[in-house]
Amino acid sequence: MKRNIIAGNWKMNKTQEETKKLIADLIPLVKDAQCEVVCCVPFTDIDVARKAARGTNIQIGAQNVHWAESGAFTGEISASMLKELKVKYVIVGHSERRQYFNETNGTVNARIKAALGAGLKVIFCVGETLRERESGETQKVVMTQTHEGLEGIDRKGLKNIVIAYEPVWAIGTGKTATAKDANDTIKVIRKAVRKDFGRASGNSIRIQYGGSMNPANVDELMSMPEIDGGLIGGASLTAEKFARIVNYQTND
Ligand code: 13P
Repeated sequence: MKRNIIAGNWKMNKTQEETKKLIADLIPLVKDAQCEVVCCVPFTDIDVARKAARGTNIQIGAQNVHWAESGAFTGEISASMLKELKVKYVIVGHSERRQYFNETNGTVNARIKAALGAGLKVIFCVGETLRERESGETQKVVMTQTHEGLEGIDRKGLKNIVIAYEPVWAIGTGKTATAKDANDTIKVIRKAVRKDFGRASGNSIRIQYGGSMNPANVDELMSMPEIDGGLIGGASLTAEKFARIVNYQTND
């Protein structure tokens, strides 16, 4: 059985003091969660977040990782540096990195390989822009991102990857994909994984939805058969909201 996974992507929010408070507030609210719970915090908050969450079911993640082991890459952080901080997950290929920091499928692929090589788990993001959606390219875009992002990775590596489907037009806009649309596109992503890695791997990989997921829509989204979790931006910054998402309710 797959275990669902809800991850918060704090983006560039929260000082260390604010981090301690948010984690402390979250602990009692999410302690009985059925799913995996992850908070992907800014690099500077990793150490305090981990200490605050020690001994609880909250795992700590980062939001990016460089592909090289070390070297002249000003401003970047390596996988072994994250590993040393006992980070469990790292987000790779978020659309904001693709949009503002020239991330390509090739650099995403290199970052994923470096993360896996260091023993980190990866939350690998894919998703179409509004223009791509309106011109009917959604399926093609997510299939290409999936195929190129996972190129050269073996089945063993794939076990440590979670895919997050985040339509760019739904991020931070309050617009959510309908549960059916999200489910349909995730089905396409799963098909792409099956094609490259075989049926069993395609079936077992966890695929999250992200983009304005919130307490009001989480139950419906998590009831969809293809959706195995969520990647939450804005609503992960408030303990009560994130906890309500983590404690989603479905009928199954
Ligand atoms: P929002 O939940 O704020 O739309 O952000 C989604 C996201 O980008 C998570 O990575």
